[in-house]
Amino acid sequence: MKGIIIYKSNYGVTKQYAEWLKEETGYPAIEIERVKRKDILDADIVIIGGPVLAHTISVAKWVKKKWNILKDKKVILFSTSGTSPQSHVLRNIFESSFETGILNKIKYFPQGGRMIFNELTAFDKLVMRLGQKMEKNPQIREEMVRDKDIIDRNGLQPILQYVM
Ligand SMILES: Cc1cc2nc3c(=O)[nH]c(=O)nc-3n(C[C@H](O)[C@H](O)[C@H](O)COP(=O)(O)O)c2cc1C
Repeated sequence: MKGIIIYKSNYGVTKQYAEWLKEETGYPAIEIERVKRKDILDADIVIIGGPVLAHTISVAKWVKKKWNILKDKKVILFSTSGTSPQSHVLRNIFESSFETGILNKIKYFPQGGRMIFNELTAFDKLVMRLGQKMEKNPQIREEMVRDKDIIDRNGLQPILQYVM
């Protein structure tokens, strides 16, 4: 079976997971902006990853746009986020990102990410600050800008078991 890993990554976290997956599976890892239609058409297994940004899985739109050429393949989606991969919040985000027809055909494996506030671009800092302003719950408000590093290579095991 031929596989491909397609990823989007602003700060390198999702890229790191994509590289680990590449190491373990031997599949090529290609940035989402660089992937060619033929690369996708040639694969039987497509692993797609991207960060969770403002409560959305950043690559969900892309998956919907490409569904025509993805729908007959084994499709795996993973995200990286400040939110713990065990959190039901991520499952809810996933389920509200796609219609049932697509949902049933995608396997979703959330991964732990990393966010260091001082390392963000000025624009992303602004986005976080605006998000904070809109959040009413003081606990969540404080949590939003707190540094997080929950990267864990072992989190990829369920993906590897599913594809191998
Ligand atoms: C502007 C911005 C918004 C974010 N929004 C969320 C969010 O809503 N929920 C969450 O769990 N993490 C959020 N994060 C944290 C990212 O998901 C996390 O840093 C991710 O691992 C980054 O991956 P990347 O380096 O591949 O881009 C946000 C980060 C940024 C910079």
